[in-house]
Amino acid sequence: MTTTKIMLKEEDIPRQWYNLAADLPSPLQPLLGPDGKPITPDMLTAVFPMNLIEQEVSQERWIDIPEEVLKILYRWRPTPLRRAVYLEEHLKTPARIYYKDESLSPPGSHKPNTSVAQAWYNKQFGIERLTTETGAGQWGSALAFACKLLGLECKVFMVRISFNQKPFRKLMMQTWDANCVSSPSEETKAGRDILEKMPDTSGSLGIAISEAIEAAVTDETGKTRYSLGSVLNHVLLHQTIIGLEAKKQLESIGEKMPDVVIGCAGGGSNFAGLAFPFVLDKINGAEVDIIPVEPEACPTMTQGPFSYDHGDTAKMTPLLPMHSLGHTFVPPPIHAGGLRYHGMAPLVSQLIVEGLLKPRAYHQLKCYELALLWAHTEGAITAPETSHAVACAVDEAEKAREEGKEKVILLNYSGHGLMDLTGYESYLSGQLTDYSLPQEELSKYQEALKDLPKPDLKKTGKW
Ligand SMILES: Cc1ncc(COP(=O)(O)O)c(C=O)c1O
Repeated sequence: MTTTKIMLKEEDIPRQWYNLAADLPSPLQPLLGPDGKPITPDMLTAVFPMNLIEQEVSQERWIDIPEEVLKILYRWRPTPLRRAVYLEEHLKTPARIYYKDESLSPPGSHKPNTSVAQAWYNKQFGIERLTTETGAGQWGSALAFACKLLGLECKVFMVRISFNQKPFRKLMMQTWDANCVSSPSEETKAGRDILEKMPDTSGSLGIAISEAIEAAVTDETGKTRYSLGSVLNHVLLHQTIIGLEAKKQLESIGEKMPDVVIGCAGGGSNFAGLAFPFVLDKINGAEVDIIPVEPEACPTMTQGPFSYDHGDTAKMTPLLPMHSLGHTFVPPPIHAGGLRYHGMAPLVSQLIVEGLLKPRAYHQLKCYELALLWAHTEGAITAPETSHAVACAVDEAEKAREEGKEKVILLNYSGHGLMDLTGYESYLSGQLTDYSLPQEELSKYQEALKDLPKPDLKKTGKW
């Protein structure tokens, strides 16, 4: 009988995170301040605690995971690596499809791998309250969960469209005692300014980030910091436990190296978490296709230029070297709320520039169609974000069938969709449509990038 669940014992959990910054073929370019000059770590201290800033700029290849963080992660880690045999049978593919099941964490996604670590480091630093933004609500609920376990207060600014579409995510946050408000809100200057100009806006992650940063830096007690659920180096670092576990699990059943590694990418963290240990193999000569997947309606990697841009709409963050659609970008209201960010993690962006990754974009109708196929074969209902990775895996499995190749496909099953059923309802009742952004609209948003500094297109030309 084929093994469908590849488990690791608690004692086999990775005890260090992997920091790809140590192995990049060409170094990351620095974050820039408003004057266009590189910022120094101390300039970030109003926003993040120094212990996390140190991780953000670290060049150490391996960073120890604190025992107390591991103790919390044991609640659901190591997560199983599953083989999608029922989908394979349906597709009649010779490919073996493995998926790392990150949907098993208490909030239902990969996000607590970093929320627990971030809450712990903030607590060590004497911080009592964290603020954040959330799109789909997955990150907000993951931070609410972590703050509850570590005894911190938590305030979440939730993008308006998701706040309205996902009342249950808000209730999850409240169950873990967090305070969740719809963004843009009247509580911050950034929110009030947007509401005055665009009272009917559906909101965006860029706006919610501005609000959350403002709420942190204006707290006069000095005991509040901001926490980000994706994009930054330290967030991607905490997620690498996913790929490190997956490697051990594949090796334990004699699979040497996947041919294809896939993750959906909003800000890039679940993709990076699974992929970075395999990116190292690729840098060292392994043959593997590594594919971050995004929506056609928010085509950051496939259509956004590599540019310096702000991480938020009100330009409160430093300038990040990244693929970006422009910080004023307000995406169409697609149901994958977690894939609507205007930028992409600098580490992921740098790998795209290098040619180490092959980004791909999918329309939402195809993603829902294949999420249903997944539910009808594997059984589970996927998060709309995750369905982008599923769609790509199905395409790759069909390609393997056409080529008659026994490929090994590995994907990150970043979350379940049990709180996202309104999206399924819209799909099932025929109300969903696909969105492609017209070039004029993309160009309009990219005006915001025009006067910003341009990063070097650093590229070794090896890939
Ligand atoms: C289930 C799920 N997958 C993926 C993402 C995308 O985020 P990231 O690119 O940081 O993994 C989100 C974001 O909310 C999510 O909820």
